[in-house]
Amino acid sequence: MSVQPKIYVAGHRGMVGSAILRQLLAQGHPAECIVTCTHSELDLTDQAAVRAFFSAEKPDQVYLAAAKVGGIYANDTYPAEFIYLNLMIQANVIDAAFRNGVQKLLFLGSSCIYPKLAPQPMREDALLTAILEPTNEPYAIAKIAGIKLCESYNRQYGESHGVDYRSVMPTNLYGPGDNYHPENSHVVPALIRRFHEAKVNQAPNVTVWGTGTPKREFLYVDDMAAACLHVMTLSQASYRQHTQPMLSHINVGCGNDITIRELTETVARVVGFEGDITFDSAKPDGTPRKLMDSTRLNALGWHAEVGLQVGLAKAYEDFLNNHAARS
Ligand SMILES: NC(=O)c1ccc[n+]([C@@H]2O[C@H](COP(=O)([O-])OP(=O)(O)OC[C@H]3O[C@@H](n4cnc5c(N)ncnc54)[C@H](OP(=O)(O)O)[C@@H]3O)[C@@H](O)[C@H]2O)c1
Repeated sequence: MSVQPKIYVAGHRGMVGSAILRQLLAQGHPAECIVTCTHSELDLTDQAAVRAFFSAEKPDQVYLAAAKVGGIYANDTYPAEFIYLNLMIQANVIDAAFRNGVQKLLFLGSSCIYPKLAPQPMREDALLTAILEPTNEPYAIAKIAGIKLCESYNRQYGESHGVDYRSVMPTNLYGPGDNYHPENSHVVPALIRRFHEAKVNQAPNVTVWGTGTPKREFLYVDDMAAACLHVMTLSQASYRQHTQPMLSHINVGCGNDITIRELTETVARVVGFEGDITFDSAKPDGTPRKLMDSTRLNALGWHAEVGLQVGLAKAYEDFLNNHAARS
């Protein structure tokens, strides 16, 4: 009988961390071999506490899905928190993992690591080629530092200690556990909430910001979690064959984008809103297109499985069960 690794999922109550937890259990990983700790039990910005936790638990593998996360407004309003907290969380976890013999760790970044005007679709080698989007630059710099932490530990301790720390950069995610805050949520949960409220209040019309023409990519969070397990369990030979020591991160996307108009109409259909939808073209649109190039991950044998309509239906079910009453 094979011995199961002890796995620590950092941020297991968040949207991605909880999906990774579900995925581990769904793939048959025993619950008793999974370690979790809530934010109130363990503040990952506290270096001494993180070291004590690793020393007591001695996990074999780490999924680092804990982070200070937020939309444009939060990033622009609290830049100090976004850079400081993320730098601290990842530095503490990655270094404590190394000190306690963890050989496998997966760090989660974000598509905002790429330059503001990166060629589309965005390839991994666009990293550090031009300036970033100013609104979330502090957050992006922290995420880039996370990639470089993993790479630096690999380069310095790969041979001597078997360190093999990997990074994945997800596109826009949605699904169960999303943040439905009225002012501080991403586009999918914001639309779900607005169309739900419009349906309940029998509003005749919903107005959406912008022209509806920008294109974006959306990935269902359980697909993201499946990709995380896939990358974590790849053989070192395969991973090395498709990455470089100083360009080691892997994009995770579904490979195609849709217009905000298509997204809006699909959400309205899934929610059951039958009124009119207006696009307010006086409001800003943002970048015309943002799509990840997921060729690297596809070549490593992973493809997204959950289509938008199905994923949105599951997200709406989660909203109805866990968020609608509080909205
Ligand atoms: N959501 C997306 O669309 C998206 C897209 C691309 C990349 N990502 C990446 O995926 C990762 C996870 O994102 P998510 O959407 O799952 O975020 P999330 O739902 O906000 O979850 C983050 C988790 O981290 C925990 N956490 C934050 N600060 C902590 C601290 N100091 N100590 C301990 N725990 C702490 C949070 O706990 P509390 O809630 O108790 O603070 C929460 O459980 C992030 O690295 C993010 O950049 C997400």
